[in-house]
Amino acid sequence: MAAARLGYRCHILTREQDSPAAQVSHGVTISDYTDPVSLRAFADAVDVISFEFENVSAEGLDLLASLKPVRPSPAILRVSQDRIVEKSFINGRGVRTAPWRPVGSFAELEAAASALGLPAVLKTTLEGYDGKGQAILRGVDDLAPAFERLTPKPLILEGFINYAMEISVIVGRGEDGSFSAFDTVENRHRNHILDVTLAPARVPVSVSDAAQGIAREIAVGLDLIGLLAVEMFVDADGRVLVNEIAPRPHNSGHWTIDACPMSQFELHIRAIAGLPLPPATRHADAVMKNLVGPEEAALWPRVLATPGFIPHLYGKREARPGRKMGHVTRLFPKGSLPGEFGVTDALGFLGERG
Ligand SMILES: Nc1ncnc2c1ncn2[C@@H]1O[C@H](COP(=O)(O)OP(=O)(O)O)[C@@H](O)[C@H]1O
Ligand SMILES: [Mg+2]
Repeated sequence: MAAARLGYRCHILTREQDSPAAQVSHGVTISDYTDPVSLRAFADAVDVISFEFENVSAEGLDLLASLKPVRPSPAILRVSQDRIVEKSFINGRGVRTAPWRPVGSFAELEAAASALGLPAVLKTTLEGYDGKGQAILRGVDDLAPAFERLTPKPLILEGFINYAMEISVIVGRGEDGSFSAFDTVENRHRNHILDVTLAPARVPVSVSDAAQGIAREIAVGLDLIGLLAVEMFVDADGRVLVNEIAPRPHNSGHWTIDACPMSQFELHIRAIAGLPLPPATRHADAVMKNLVGPEEAALWPRVLATPGFIPHLYGKREARPGRKMGHVTRLFPKGSLPGEFGVTDALGFLGERG
């Protein structure tokens, strides 16, 4: 929709019948991510290619990149797809993450658990999203069942960060190195799935500046063209650690649709299309609440009836548990984001939920 507003026509390649993006786009190709015939026909139909999901095929993108510009590059996708490559890259740029060890075998898991201590978080290196593919290990008895359950191997063990807050920064970068970043925001997860984003994050300027600096460092290090979200932890000492990166529009940036002259989606399109990147300003503070699974999707009529709630429903066919079905944004005059109880009030009946 952001691209259409800039006068572009979008052509979606998706595996799904009736995908939300295809519902509002000019063209659609329904194909898996690797079929060379469909990929070639798709590349023929477009001028520039991007992706908004990390679990697409990097090999498929390589084929597309041999035919048309792919932004961000398949190399960046590969870094973000594999938690071991991702954390090695981030640490290599001098940026902190949770302490971590690669885990290829159960013996390596035992060694990693004694090196890092418990609790710790065991994750698949590939294919994880929205908390899928991870387990918290609280005691030694948790090691074997978690190791059995999590596939594909190898895994990664991360030290558990007792964070004071989770934050994120979304940056856009153009082919000429031009750069634009949204304010640092605060994220709250429920069942490992993003629940609420507060914009801006209620952190000292030093923390928010550190987060901005880290996001920029990573974007430059990746030679990014396009959009990148950097998810971070703020620990009890106010230090900022990177959790993971996502080279695409990000759920923690959905508030920008309503609170900014240029949304994250527009910044993405501008960056990949070679348009100017103005500063990513906001005209309001915002609280964004996800509607997750059948339970929250069922609240839709109440959402629509609540003054001040800006509704977004994605048009997904089926409301499976844990699936993001839509979100709600509420705006506040800039500089007046409410405090803790105010945030609960701001969410109304959506804030009363566990
Ligand atoms: N090392 C960790 N310490 C504490 N909490 C963690 C850790 N890793 C993940 N989490 C929690 O789980 C959430 C999802 O983990 P993440 O690695 O971002 O996976 P996903 O790819 O599913 O988003 C994080 O946002 C955070 O709330
Ligand atoms: Mg995450």
